Parts: sequence; structure tokens; C-alpha cells
Amino acid sequence: MVGITETVLRDGHQSLIATRMRTRDMLPAAERLDAIGYRSIEAWGGATFDVCLRYLREDPWERLRALKRAMPRTPLQMLLRGQNLVGYRHYADDVVRSFVDEAARTGIDIFRVFDALNDPRNMEVALRAVKRAGARAQATICYTSSPVHSLEAFVALGRRLAELDADELCVKDMAGMMPPGDGAALVRALRQEIGLPVVVHTHSASGLASLTCVAAAEAGAAAVDGALSPFAGGASQPPTETLVGALRGTPNDPKLDLGALGELAEYFRGVLEHYRPLLELRSLQTDPGILTHQVPGGMLSNLLSQLKEQEALGRLAEVLAEVPRVRADLGYPPLVTPTSQIVGIQAVLNVLQGGRYRQVTNEVRDYVRGLYGTPPGPLDPELVARVTAGTSAIRARPADLLDPELAKAAAELRALVPAADTAEVLSYALFPIVYRSYRSAVDRGLTSDVLTAAALGVVGALRRPATPPSARAAGTGVGERGSAWAHEGRVRLQTQRGWIDAAHGRTRR
Ligand code: CO
Repeated sequence: MVGITETVLRDGHQSLIATRMRTRDMLPAAERLDAIGYRSIEAWGGATFDVCLRYLREDPWERLRALKRAMPRTPLQMLLRGQNLVGYRHYADDVVRSFVDEAARTGIDIFRVFDALNDPRNMEVALRAVKRAGARAQATICYTSSPVHSLEAFVALGRRLAELDADELCVKDMAGMMPPGDGAALVRALRQEIGLPVVVHTHSASGLASLTCVAAAEAGAAAVDGALSPFAGGASQPPTETLVGALRGTPNDPKLDLGALGELAEYFRGVLEHYRPLLELRSLQTDPGILTHQVPGGMLSNLLSQLKEQEALGRLAEVLAEVPRVRADLGYPPLVTPTSQIVGIQAVLNVLQGGRYRQVTNEVRDYVRGLYGTPPGPLDPELVARVTAGTSAIRARPADLLDPELAKAAAELRALVPAADTAEVLSYALFPIVYRSYRSAVDRGLTSDVLTAAALGVVGALRRPATPPSARAAGTGVGERGSAWAHEGRVRLQTQRGWIDAAHGRTRR
């Protein structure tokens, strides 16, 4: 029997509606989700933490507490970016340990820990903290294809992760480009050589995902990830119901009730309806182009918004051709946060500035110097010479260069909020600026409901095609002004400039 990990509460909405699903839209389904018999429910981590604070003005820890109360039976799972936790830089070890502890204490049972460079040193402290907290450590291999990535290299990485005491391994195909044959071979090799349970996470983008999940199940995967159908397909996971249907009656039957899944899907269809202004047609479409350019969906929308800002949308094809070249220069990192942003932004610069590396971003400099970890393959010597002129490369584990951060963060926050608890201190330690603005927004009564309404209004208004003059003159009420969402959005945008930097326009690290 293969297990199913349900992603509707995390990757599903992160992939399709920019991570905007609110806790109040999750809770009504919680009891039924808990009763399905999933192997686990991925409900926290990844971008959800940041988006809760930054855009929804929700406390992510409160979300986790509420979900755990409502789903006591099914193991809750989170995505943790190794030493980056749920942020975009390396945090000091004391922050990593405390964060993992607090997350486990609050309700996370399974930690899926990955590093964008597949550098085990960036996962080590988190994995050990997971074990110490008594939770399950799911160590992750980011799948990609390149001249330096082979079955043997992935198995060697799996072996190192097993030595770090991982309980199980995850093959994470964030771009959705792993062919069924490769997926099956990798699962089989990891099972045979290492013996730990292997789970497979992929995305539907290229259209391969359902096939790959079935092949992985047949090859002995312990679980595959699916999202309930309204939040499945395209940039998200394959539909849970489809996977269950495909495997029904086989030796790998997940044995989940399609009727009960259908009722849940019906509920989430209604939820999606509410967020529809945020849904891009492109993120639902199948894009086999990924098989050549390897650009994951989230990265593609970032590239698009960067090009739009520069009024250079017409140069997308050149940028997509430049991405694999930059990636090769950087030793073929898998493209996932934050390497996807590092490679993407540099590729845009290389195209728009009329010469490659005429301007080199600070992130590329840091990367080349070794501040993100050890790249999978050798770097382009010319780029290294240019970037490291006069400085030496860093060979140590990057987080060894960081001083402890937790006590300082606690002192800073408690000067503002004397009663702040550990969870709040961690939110502040991870995102100090965002957390300050979250606190002041909450203090002014700008709750998640008001802000989400505003966000949907702004995006909806921007997306809506211009109303024909005849319709406006006739006062049919379908124009921009007729929409309460849009009105609310405009008012908020005027009074609160800057809090919405457009759903997808985030190119920070
Ligand atoms: Co994913």
C-alpha cells in the first residue's frame, strides 16, 4: 500500500493562489481531512509562514495550533528549508534548533528538510533538532537533471542523509520534470541501497506528475504527494483523487474513499472560487517547456513580473534560454528557493544589460564565494576569477560563520512586546521588519479578513478587462466601480501603500 500526503493546505495553494489561503478557510475541512486516512497532511512551512505574517496578517503559530487541535489524528507535516528554515537566508544554529523545537511542540510530526544545493551540512542541524524533538525527520533530495546529477550521485546523497539519522527520504521534484522511468529507478535504487522509506513529491507542470507518481508507487515508494483536485494540476501537485483512482485495486492501493475525497473537493472548490482573482491561467496550464528550461512555476511568475517591471516582457524567450547557461556557470544548482531567485535575477540582468555578467548581483557573489554551501558541480572559472578577485572562497559550513541570534532577537522584541513568547520571538528572529509591521497592523485592527478582501479586490481590479464604454454608459454595474472587492482594494491601496507588492512580484531572497 502506498500512502498519500495531502498538500491542499500548503503546496496546493502556494502553487496556485500565491499561498493566500487563510486559516478560516482551512478549519471547516479539518475534521473531514483528518478522517480520510492520509499518511500525512502537509499544512505548514514553505512560504506559508512568511505570507501569513506579511500579507494575511495572521499568526502562523496560531494557525498551526488551530490545525493541530482540529486534526489530532493525521500526522501534520511541514516543509523546512534546512538552515533557511522558512526564510531566505541562513539563520544561526540557535534559531534553527529553537524553531524546530517550537514547531514540533506546537504540532508538526514530520519535518521535510531540504537544501537548495543538496548540501547536507545545511540540513544537519535541523535534522538533528527534529530527532531530538522526537519528530520524524524526512531528509530531502532535490531532484534535477544536469551533467553532474546522476543516479549514483543521488544515492550517495541519500546515504549521507541516512548517516544524519534521517527516518525517511523524500525525492523532491520542484519543477515537475522527473520522468516516470527516472523516478522509479531512483526510488528503487534508494530503497535497495539505503533501505529507508522513500516518498516522492512532484508538480504537475509538465504533465508528467501523475505518471511519475504511479511509477514511483510501483517501484516501492512509501508515499506520493497529491492535492485535492480544486487545488491540483498545473503548478501544483497531481490530484489526490486521480492518484487514488489510478492505484485502486492494485497492490499499491492507497485505500482512500473516493466519495469522501469528492466531498472535500466540493468544499475546496468553493474556497478556490473565493480566491479566483489570484489564479493565473498560466499556472493551471501544462507546460512541457519545463522539460527543457527546467524553470519551476513560481520562478517563472517571478521572471514574468521582473520583465514586466522593466517593460521587457518580449524578451522572455531570451531569458529562458539564459537561465540554463547561468545555472551551468554556477555548477548546476537545483532551481528552488533561493537558488531559483539567484539564477533568475542574474539571467534577467544578463539579457537586459546587453552583456553577460556586466552586473553581478550580491547574491551571485555570495553564492560563488561559498556562502550558500557547496554547489553540485564546478563553477565557471572566469566567473569565479571575476567575483572572488582578492577574496578567498569559504569552505566552512556557511552557518559556522554566524553568531548566535536568538537572545538578541528576544531582547529586541521584548523591548516592544514585553510578554512575547518563544513563538513570537522566533517570528521576529526570522522576519524582523515584516514582524514589526505585522504587529502594528494587528494593533490597528487590520486583520486577515480585511486584508485578504483588499488583496483580492486589487488583483481583481487589475485583471478585469476594461469595460466597454457602452456597458459603462448603460450602468450595467459590471464595471470596476461595481465591484465591492475592487472598491475595498482601492481604498486599502491608497491608505496602505506598499503592503501589497503584487501577488507574484516578490524577488527577494
Ligand atoms: Co512543491
